[in-house]
Amino acid sequence: TIFVLLLLPFSGWLIGIIGRNLRRKSAVAQAQQGEMLSQMDETLGGLRVVKAFNAETKLEKRFAALNERIRKSFNYLYARHNLATPLGEFVGTVVIAILLWFGGMLIVGEKSVIGPAEFIYYLVIFYSIIGPAKELSRASYGVKKGMAALDRIDIILNTENNIPEPKKPVQITGFHDKIEFIDLSFRYNTEWVLKDINLTVHKGQTVALVGQSGSGKTTLIDLLPRFYDVKKGKILMDGVNIKKIHTHDIRKLMGNVNQDAFLFNDSFFNNIAFGVDEATMEQVVEAAKIANAHDFIMATEHGYESNIGDRGNKLSGGQRQRISIARAILKNPPILILDEATSALDTESEKMVQKALESLMKNRTTLVVAHRLSTIKKADEICVLHEGRIVERGKHEDLIQLNGHYKKLVDMQSF
Ligand SMILES: Nc1ncnc2c1ncn2[C@@H]1O[C@H](COP(=O)(O)OP(=O)(O)O)[C@@H](O)[C@H]1O
Ligand SMILES: [Mg+2]
Repeated sequence: TIFVLLLLPFSGWLIGIIGRNLRRKSAVAQAQQGEMLSQMDETLGGLRVVKAFNAETKLEKRFAALNERIRKSFNYLYARHNLATPLGEFVGTVVIAILLWFGGMLIVGEKSVIGPAEFIYYLVIFYSIIGPAKELSRASYGVKKGMAALDRIDIILNTENNIPEPKKPVQITGFHDKIEFIDLSFRYNTEWVLKDINLTVHKGQTVALVGQSGSGKTTLIDLLPRFYDVKKGKILMDGVNIKKIHTHDIRKLMGNVNQDAFLFNDSFFNNIAFGVDEATMEQVVEAAKIANAHDFIMATEHGYESNIGDRGNKLSGGQRQRISIARAILKNPPILILDEATSALDTESEKMVQKALESLMKNRTTLVVAHRLSTIKKADEICVLHEGRIVERGKHEDLIQLNGHYKKLVDMQSF
């Protein structure tokens, strides 16, 4: 009896320790898995921004680091788990075995009755061993399942990009002269969403695209950084078809500020420095000042090191927009692509954003989907898109005179 009393607490203690440790590690692993999901979500959701800023490598590194941490946790966890369960049962089995053996000895010693005790003894041992054995085979099945999942991940990772890179890319040395859209048509599926577009943007000019929602403005500006490839016609950059230029080189020339400012769950600093390989604090602060973002950043607890929350949810719409403008200012590209936001900006932050945009557009070639009349009025050329065609073009006053699509849009204030 004493023997039993000693043995049971000891084995209980052993299993308890393993179990507790496992639970703690498992909580860590769960948290890491959550982090991975949110990182994947924001990377996929912000793919356009990632590509536009040539930040693939940066994010790949971030993801690889997290992956490595998760791999370690799970390796540990599974090793322990697969060890602990059979171990627990083994301990149980051993306890029973020792008990029975001990009891058997007593029986044998005092009364010399072997038969029933021995029978039960073997029976119980046999029964107990089945469990751990099953557990082991289940573990090996789990490993196989994991391998299969890994294969599928491999397939996704190795999927080819649908924008083919040129075999012998033309090296470009910057942007010098003009961008030309020539007889360009484009469709996502069967329906043509852009038809016979002809447009030349000279260096230093601002060209505004206006038109109803769904008229093809975003699609047109997405073709320039090669988010999609032109189906008919071509786009020339200083006379070179952009299909012959490596996407990385082309995107290096451009800065994008999009309708939804895409921010990452990271610090202000990292969000602004996102598009450049290495940035100093001074450069980041400088960009933020120009973008009218410095003051509200400094008002946060840790300044530039403050985390902005999941997709920047700790910020207002106008603040997010100014961060993404600071990002473009820091990248300092010769060509600017703006898809202006109207939604979710109050008058005050609208003014701030407007000022920030004006500083950004200074001395640059800009292609802008314009919602604000003030931006449109300053444009060198306004193109009115209607159902995928440029139906009117010219300066603000001339287009008002025409009394056509543009006049209607301005009257309705609906761009
Ligand atoms: N990724 C896409 N796949 C298929 N159709 C799309 C896609 N993006 C836009 N479209 C379609 O292309 C047309 C032009 O859209 P878009 O360029 O977003 O217009 P705008 O920016 O002027 O509002 C719309 O009919 C829209 O439904
Ligand atoms: Mg749009």
